[in-house]
This record gives sequence, C-alpha cells and structure tokens, in this order.
Amino acid sequence: MDDRRFIEGLPKAELHIHIEGSLEPELMMALAQRNGVSLRFPSIEALRAAYRFSNLQDFLDLYYEGMRVLLHEQDFYDLAMAYFRKAASQNVRHAEIFFDPQGHTGRGVPFRILIDGLSRAQADAERQFDVSSSLILCFLRHLDEADAERTLDEALPWRDRFIGVGLDSSEKGRPPRLFERVFARARGLGLHAVAHAGEEGPAEYVREALDLLKVERIDHGNRALDDTGLIARIAREQIPLTVCPLSNLRLCVVPDLEDHPLRRMLDEGLMATINSDDPAYFGGYMNENLAALRLSRGDMMTLARNGFRAAFCDEASKQRHLEALNAYGLSGT
Ligand code: ADE
Ligand code: ZN
Repeated sequence: MDDRRFIEGLPKAELHIHIEGSLEPELMMALAQRNGVSLRFPSIEALRAAYRFSNLQDFLDLYYEGMRVLLHEQDFYDLAMAYFRKAASQNVRHAEIFFDPQGHTGRGVPFRILIDGLSRAQADAERQFDVSSSLILCFLRHLDEADAERTLDEALPWRDRFIGVGLDSSEKGRPPRLFERVFARARGLGLHAVAHAGEEGPAEYVREALDLLKVERIDHGNRALDDTGLIARIAREQIPLTVCPLSNLRLCVVPDLEDHPLRRMLDEGLMATINSDDPAYFGGYMNENLAALRLSRGDMMTLARNGFRAAFCDEASKQRHLEALNAYGLSGT
C-alpha cells in the first residue's frame, strides 16, 4: 500500500490538540451567525486568508478572537464533536485534549457551560466513534499565577472531568517558574502536569518545566535540542515530547519541514510524538502532520507507538492499543 493509505490506517493517539484550535472557519462563521456575534471577516475565504502568521503571538491574537463565537454549551459540544468526527476518520483511537478556560471565563462564559459541552461530546464520541479521550486544563501564561489559581478553584467542582493541567499561550518572557505554586497545588490534587516549553522560548524553559513544574511531558520541546545536557536527560528519562510539525512551520518556529528537529529527536532516542496542535489554523490534522515529514514506515510506527506509550490512559487500554498497532505494522507494510 502507498504511504498515504498506510498513514490513514495507522492507529494513533493525539496528545497535543487545543480544542479551540480545531474551530474550522465554517463552524466559526455558523456559530457567529447562530449567536449574533460579529466577526471582522466578511467570508470564510477572507478568514482563511488571514491564517498567515509570522510567530506564535500573531496566531494567538486570531485564536482568541475566533473563540468569541463560543458562548453556549451546545457550541462547545459542536466544536468537540467536529474534532472527534475528524479524528475518528483518521483512525485516532485516543485523544488528550487541551482546553483554555480563561479564554472563555474571561469573556463571561461560566466554566460549567464549557465543561458540560466538552464532556457530553466526549461521551458521545466514545459511543459513536469508539474514540476515548481525556481533558487537560491549560493555564494561559500571559495571565498571572493568581488568575491561574482562581481558574483551578473554579474548576474543582468538576475535578473528575479533567485529568491534568497544562501551560500554554505566549511563551517569550513568561517562564514556567511563574507558575510553580499553582502546578504544585494541581499535582497535589492528583492531576497530571504538562507544559508548553521550548516552542519559541529557550531550552532553559524546558528545564524549568521539568524541575519546577515537575511536568510529565513537554509540549513542543524543540529548543531543548540547543542544550546537549538537556537532550541527554530527556533521552535517559524518556520524557515524552508532543511535537507539532505543521504548527512549527506555520508559526515560523522552523524554516521548512526538511529541517524539522523531529528527525534529530528520533536519532537522539527521544520519545517524540506527532500531534496537530491547532489543526484548523495550521492546515492539517494528525494524518497531514505525519505525511508532512516524509518519514520511513519504521519511524512512523515508532511515533505512533510513542503516542500510546506517552498517553495518560490506563495500562490495559495502552496495551490494547499497542497490540493493535503492532498487528497493523505486521500486516500493513
Ligand atoms: N495555544 C494554542 N496553541 C498554542 C501553541 N502552539 N503554543 C502556545 N499556546 C497555544
Ligand atoms: Zn499547543
């Protein structure tokens, strides 16, 4: 079979997807109309044409603007169901999904509205598509730690609806150390911890995320490759990196995909995984991200295996997914 069909059939886990970043222009326009929210773009084409970014902040400005159309429980449900439908069509078997509550509560949308919509979609996706999923609550790092603390307080009545906390948004000048206390509290509550680090920020931020926030996975982590000591540690401790090739390209984190650091990560024995980040904005979901790097089948199998190994799901599910993946590898080549 050709590479495209091999990628399509490959069983996958997605560990780095912002649900708000899966808001396709068509749904954004439909929700704007449904909710009477005005957008400054006259058409879907005009909106899509604005998706040309020079850096992370360029993108984030549009990302926060776009999420203004999300107001009601049904909106969050529709958003997540659209993602699950797409993920299922690409044979994503398990997804760990970021959401940005402060992007909504800051606009007056109660936490209960968004969590209920997302949770209802998760349950329906499990039934309809056999895709399992968990939610990871991300703190926006351009806001201060007190805001993150309040967000965690607000979320605690729904503690059983999410499995971990993350850290996202503008990275430069916002080091992980600013969020040490709120991460300690979250970990004390039994939540998993992950953080975006080394996307635009330096290798030092990756080190801080590990040492101070005590995260179990690093989201992106590209800049860790600038520091040989850090590379050795990430390899030795097999700390998963959730890498997002098309995101890196669209946000000018890498100049082109031929030189993408993923190849070096695999050569160095790092536990890299492939993910889509904000697929509606960056031109591709899981399959497009895998195809973009033109990898060998062996490397694609390694990346898919790493995705399931690095997931926070229970051991029995992990083994079941890994066995299905191995069977595919034996039959699919
Ligand atoms: N929020 C959504 N996508 C993000 C990214 N790639 N980096 C940081 N914050 C984000
Ligand atoms: Zn991200």
